[in-house]
Amino acid sequence: MRVGVFDSGVGGLSVVKSLLEHKLFEEIIYFGDTARVPYGVKDQNTIIRYSLEALEFFKNFEIDLLITACNTVSAYALDEMRLHSDCDVIGVVEPGVLALKNAVPDTDANILILGTKATVRSRAYEKGLEELGYRRHSAIATTLLVPIVEEGLYEGEVLQSALHHYFGALEKNPDAIILGCTHFPLVAEAIDGYFNQKSALIHSGEAIVEYLEHHYDFTKRFEKTELKFFASENPEGLRRTAKEWLSLD
Ligand code: DGL
Repeated sequence: MRVGVFDSGVGGLSVVKSLLEHKLFEEIIYFGDTARVPYGVKDQNTIIRYSLEALEFFKNFEIDLLITACNTVSAYALDEMRLHSDCDVIGVVEPGVLALKNAVPDTDANILILGTKATVRSRAYEKGLEELGYRRHSAIATTLLVPIVEEGLYEGEVLQSALHHYFGALEKNPDAIILGCTHFPLVAEAIDGYFNQKSALIHSGEAIVEYLEHHYDFTKRFEKTELKFFASENPEGLRRTAKEWLSLD
C-alpha cells in the first residue's frame, strides 16, 4: 500500500516514525507545507484552502490512502478533503480519542488536551471525548511548542520555561494528556517529566497505528519502506530532520 502523509511542517514525521515502527506500508510519500507552517494560528478557511492544495499535490502519486498527520488539519479540513479525494483520508483526532479510551477507560479521568490555538478553538477533541462520556477535560493551546520543536529544542531552558508558562497554574496532575499536535511527541519526554511520569500520554502516531490496524487489513508487513519527502520550502531541511528523527542512513 502506498500512503500519503501530510502535515503543515515537520511534526507529521512523528507519525511516520510510528508507521515505520509497525512496518505498515510499502511506500510513504510525505509532504510538509513548510513554507506556510504554522497552520495552528490560521483561520478555518485558510486551513481548508491549504489542505485542499496539499491534496492536489498528492494526486501526482496514486496513493491508496492519505493520512493528515496534523491535528489542526484533522480538526478543520477533513470533510472538505474527503469530498475532493479519490482515496480514503484519515485524520488523527478520532484515532486520538479512541486511543485515549483504550488507555484510560475511566470516564471520570481528568484529561488535559494540548494543541494549537486552532485545534483547541475547534473543540474537536472535547466533542469526541464528550460523546464517549468523558466530562472532566480541559484544553491548553501550547502554541509555543510548535516553533520550539521546529527549532530542534527538545530539551533545555527554553522548553522548560514554555512548559512552566503553560502548566504552572494547573492545580492537579492530569490522568491523561492528549498530545493533540504532531509536533508534541518530540517533546513528550519533557512533558512527561514535568508531570513526574504520572499521566498517560496519547500520541497521534501510536493512535493512528491502532486505528489503521483496526480498520484495514495489514496481514502483510514491510521490512523496508520506500520513503519520499517533499516540502513547499526548504525540502533539504525537512529531509535532514527526517533523517535525524527517523534514524535513517
Ligand atoms: N503539527 C500540527 C498539528 O498537529 C501543528 C503545527 C502547526 O501549527 O502548523 O496540529
